[in-house]
Amino acid sequence: MAISLKINGEKHQVDADPDTPLLWAIRDHLDMTGTKFGCGIASCGACTVHLNGQAVRSCVLPISVIGDQEITTIEGLSSREGKAIQAAWDELAVVQCGYCQSGQIMSATALLENNASPNDADIDAALSGNICRCSTYTRIRAAVKHASQTISVKEV
Ligand code: FES
Ligand code: FES
Repeated sequence: MAISLKINGEKHQVDADPDTPLLWAIRDHLDMTGTKFGCGIASCGACTVHLNGQAVRSCVLPISVIGDQEITTIEGLSSREGKAIQAAWDELAVVQCGYCQSGQIMSATALLENNASPNDADIDAALSGNICRCSTYTRIRAAVKHASQTISVKEV
């Protein structure tokens, strides 16, 4: 069954069972492999994408319930906050093995889009569902703050 999805501003047709999780539509049907599989049960955050700007776990989101909602993946992350987060990740060399990082970046961007100046507690709350086996949490927190400051400096 063909299901229409709007991803990164473009319409795609996915010929798959309606119960197919969005993660597999993105990765296997549309070859966008930046979004990762970790646990498949919404417990690790590796598969995080945005649905209408909110961070969601694509491994447990059936494509049948999405409708016209806007999906953003790491490949299409181009908002001001998304660019600032990615630049901060580079500048502070956040990444270790990298496996969890697209999910971390998607959650961090959703946080900044909703809260321009997050404190430590805000960052911990927003990213608590994103697990990093390399334990890059200290650098992630610093990079979120750096991105926030970069945006506020540009606004002055
Ligand atoms: S793969 Fe989706 S939360 Fe782990
Ligand atoms: S950078 Fe390796 S799991 Fe997070």
